[in-house]
Amino acid sequence: MKILAIETSCDDTAMAVIDCQGDFQNLKTKLVANVISSQTKLHAKAGGIIPNLAAREHEKNLIPVFKETLKLAKIKIKDLAKEIDLVCVTKGPGLQPSLLMGLNFAKTLAYTIDKSIIGTNHLLGHIFSNFIKNDGTFENKIKLPVVCLLVSGGHTQLYKIETWNDIKLVGETLDDASGECFDKIAKILKLGYPGGVFISKVSEQTRLKNPNYTLEFNLPKPLINSKDYNFSFSGLKTAVLYLTQRLKKEKKFNKKTIEKICLETEEVITEVLTFKTIKLAKELKAKTIMIAGGVSANKRLRSKFIEKINDEFDFVCPDRLMSTDNAAMIATAGYYEYLQGKQDNCLDLEVNPNLTINN
Ligand code: KG4
Ligand code: ZN
Repeated sequence: MKILAIETSCDDTAMAVIDCQGDFQNLKTKLVANVISSQTKLHAKAGGIIPNLAAREHEKNLIPVFKETLKLAKIKIKDLAKEIDLVCVTKGPGLQPSLLMGLNFAKTLAYTIDKSIIGTNHLLGHIFSNFIKNDGTFENKIKLPVVCLLVSGGHTQLYKIETWNDIKLVGETLDDASGECFDKIAKILKLGYPGGVFISKVSEQTRLKNPNYTLEFNLPKPLINSKDYNFSFSGLKTAVLYLTQRLKKEKKFNKKTIEKICLETEEVITEVLTFKTIKLAKELKAKTIMIAGGVSANKRLRSKFIEKINDEFDFVCPDRLMSTDNAAMIATAGYYEYLQGKQDNCLDLEVNPNLTINN
């Protein structure tokens, strides 16, 4: 089944064509085309995403991205109805003005070529980003049960996956998401947007310069010892804000202390995420630990999981390009929903900015 997918939930205008076969246990995917037009530069000026500006950019970008996707997929516009079996589009969660742009485009397209449409869950998309290989084909050999850590700009969640038809939320952040925490701390340090990318770059260089670095600032590891599987990251952001204010007062806020703050921020965030995920995997006797979402691109998070798992579980992470928002993952999630018998109608399909995994 050849799927054309559209993703505009936040600040990336993305489209992909992907071939999906089999049920989820034996899923095979082939990435045919994958195009992402990022708005990072535009939002960097404000240090965060401005929803109406993002929507305007999607409006500008959708047709060029569509043309580029068809070109890469070697599909002529007149053959679209023959070549594409299903249209999938992110219906939530995300920023309403951004979601509306993609949804409107997808509905018009599906209606015109007379194909079925599925409004897809962005969070499912992140989980299934693990089912796409950036440079070719994928065959599902992932062992169940899986514990999946989903870490993005808007979400930090732990899922238990007993079968591919049964994905249950076990815990999530009570306040800020881990990506949001990276972004807010980068803003405090005036490093740029998206913050996670800058903090991880600075941390990596600092770690290389000081391989035996010991933590100095005693930043909190929120909820690390709580009995449940929830997270909390707003206190960490506040701790960094106070630390920065103190260092400024003491005239010690400089390149060196910024480097230390970056490294220590990355250390405590990755410590909490790996600790709680592995604890849940042990409790559930999972076979595989999987990560997904923008923060899963973080190299320290990946290496920490590999160090700590110590062959007790399989470790699965998406290709780094598939960690952050893309439409290939939306196609895979749409296929999942198609296999569950879901189908939407162009006339009724609406965005749902607060969509969760179970609705
Ligand atoms: O999944 P995503 O692209 O969009 C959402 O659905 O939110 O995630 C974006 C988040 C941002 O907060 C960004 O700072 C973070 O992912 N991120 C990273 C890295 N790359 C992106 N965080 C830490 N390390 C990275 N290398
Ligand atoms: Zn996302």
